[in-house]
Amino acid sequence: MAIQRVMTRQFPATRLRRTRSNAVLNHMLCETQLSAAHLIYPVFIIAGSNATQAVPSMPGVERMTADVLVERMHAWLALGLRCFALFPVIDLAHKSLDGREAWNDNGLVATTIKLMKQHHPDACIISDVALDPYTTHGQDGIVDANHYVVNDLTVDALVKQALCHARAGADIVAPSDMMDGRIGCIRNALEQAGLVNTCIMSYAAKYASAYYGPFRDAVGSAAQLKGASKSSYQMHPGNINEALHEVAMDIHEGADMVIVKPGMPYLDVAKAVKDQFGVPTFAYQVSGEYSMHQAAISAGWLDEKVILESLLAFRRAGCDGIWTYFAPQAAALLKQRP
Ligand code: PBG
Repeated sequence: MAIQRVMTRQFPATRLRRTRSNAVLNHMLCETQLSAAHLIYPVFIIAGSNATQAVPSMPGVERMTADVLVERMHAWLALGLRCFALFPVIDLAHKSLDGREAWNDNGLVATTIKLMKQHHPDACIISDVALDPYTTHGQDGIVDANHYVVNDLTVDALVKQALCHARAGADIVAPSDMMDGRIGCIRNALEQAGLVNTCIMSYAAKYASAYYGPFRDAVGSAAQLKGASKSSYQMHPGNINEALHEVAMDIHEGADMVIVKPGMPYLDVAKAVKDQFGVPTFAYQVSGEYSMHQAAISAGWLDEKVILESLLAFRRAGCDGIWTYFAPQAAALLKQRP
């Protein structure tokens, strides 16, 4: 329909290169905006103090202790980043079959949230709700004797975990587990606890993806999973109607925002979600997408500018925001732009 509207006369009356030839117009007429305010930065946290660890399969990404995190946040906030998501790396001694460390009010996530809020009250903090960093088997939920992740028992655990994070001061809880019914249960529990303004950003359409490999190295769940699959709860990569069904359910149950994950290989899903529901929609540019880009950049095969192009694609598809490990690098690149 847009095409019909503008198709009056053809070349040479219409030369689409005219506006492109003028740098000011080229910039002004750009249809899609990307800024640091659209980015969510996922960070890996470890126990202890004054320590960092490199993640070999995610060059440029480091795990860090809470004190290092709050220190580094000064620079990230100065770059315009406002939203940070926490992923804990849990010592083996604290992992268990049912992942009970996940709702420890004095645990790594709760104490880190409190420290962040104390030092940076204006930052927006997102906490991941799922059991995989805490379980001895690396699955996102509680398993039965056949290693099947049991839905309703897991939901009870996720509710405790979400309440623990919300009490500590998380602005947003983000369930990434793909259990059925967890959004409604978490929403009810938050309401009953009087935490009425805690947002839920649901990983509504999360696929069983090989792109998560480097993340599992980073949080240390790969060693626990030992190659086991998550396909009994994460979605089959071929499905898009099912993604819309998932999103509809999560919105109905009380999600404020939804995530499609991974990102770039599922851009069609993100666009369909935004077109159909019009709710705040996010894409997660996952660890594998980060590492592929970073590998090509460090080999000199791709210019660093490719980062902004990869993020702009999500905005063009209709995403309100993007989770990305490139957040500081992207924000710095955006500052350099004329
Ligand atoms: C699991 C979880 C995953 C990611 C975040 N939380 C995937 C998984 O292990 O199945 C992936 C993030 C990434 O790859 O960057 N709760």
